[in-house]
Amino acid sequence: MLTTSKELLLDAQKKGYAVGAFNVENMEMVQAVVAAAEELRAPVILQTTPSTLRYAGPEFYLANAKAAAERAIVPVVMHLDHGNSFDLAMRAYRAGYTSIMIDGSHQSLEENIRLSKSVVDACHPSGIPVEAELGKVGGKEDDLNGGEGNPYTDPAEAAAFVEATGIDSLAVAIGTAHGIYKGVPKIDVERLSQIRQIVSIPLVLHGTSGVPDETVRECIRRGICKVNYATDLRIAFSKGVCSVIFNDQQVFDPKKYNAKGREEVKQYVMQKMQVCGCAGKA
Ligand code: 13P
Repeated sequence: MLTTSKELLLDAQKKGYAVGAFNVENMEMVQAVVAAAEELRAPVILQTTPSTLRYAGPEFYLANAKAAAERAIVPVVMHLDHGNSFDLAMRAYRAGYTSIMIDGSHQSLEENIRLSKSVVDACHPSGIPVEAELGKVGGKEDDLNGGEGNPYTDPAEAAAFVEATGIDSLAVAIGTAHGIYKGVPKIDVERLSQIRQIVSIPLVLHGTSGVPDETVRECIRRGICKVNYATDLRIAFSKGVCSVIFNDQQVFDPKKYNAKGREEVKQYVMQKMQVCGCAGKA
């Protein structure tokens, strides 16, 4: 069965590790992430963005996640990543997603609070936890462009935001960006510690593809409990598929190249689970 992210993140917070959250685009990526989690006995979060849900509705991805979770020996969560409207959050919720992010970070603080709280009010009665974001993670995430104005999460504002919305986890902006980095990202780990001191709920790191593993470990030591990887999984899958097609342009069975994409994703995810410290925690 799929589980919610609530207990997983609280356990991670208590024990000082992070749960890896991996964006999936198809059945093979779902299988790869869950197989990696099983091999390492790690709790795991699968997630899909709005553009992925435009490609195929939440029911398709949820069916894959459910099929994998029902057979899995580790807890598996299905999470909406960067939900960009109340309606999409409710669509995922009604389909059966077990964790919802609503991202109002590109709107005014008042509107972000109003939107996040409305999703909390809708999800909490049936025990579905909600993640929201304050500050702007850089780069382009899906349909949203980050990085305008002061992008960083203000610690005092974060405490007030959590109090006003009742959210279960908070995505913080501390210098990471979605997509591919041009140089080595500079992460404001001091700011993260300041946020941790006054915000008691689990904190989430977005834009982690391309962040050096040692920096991710430092962020986890300073309070990050959920770490998101998307871009690198897409790259790994595509690399696997392309390697087969480049070697044999007559190949016509999708199983042949998709299997290679699946294997590349699994290897990548296993390595990042070691970085997160979630291996052996399920
Ligand atoms: P990346 O683009 O760095 O993989 O970001 C993942 C993410 O934060 C998804 O929400």
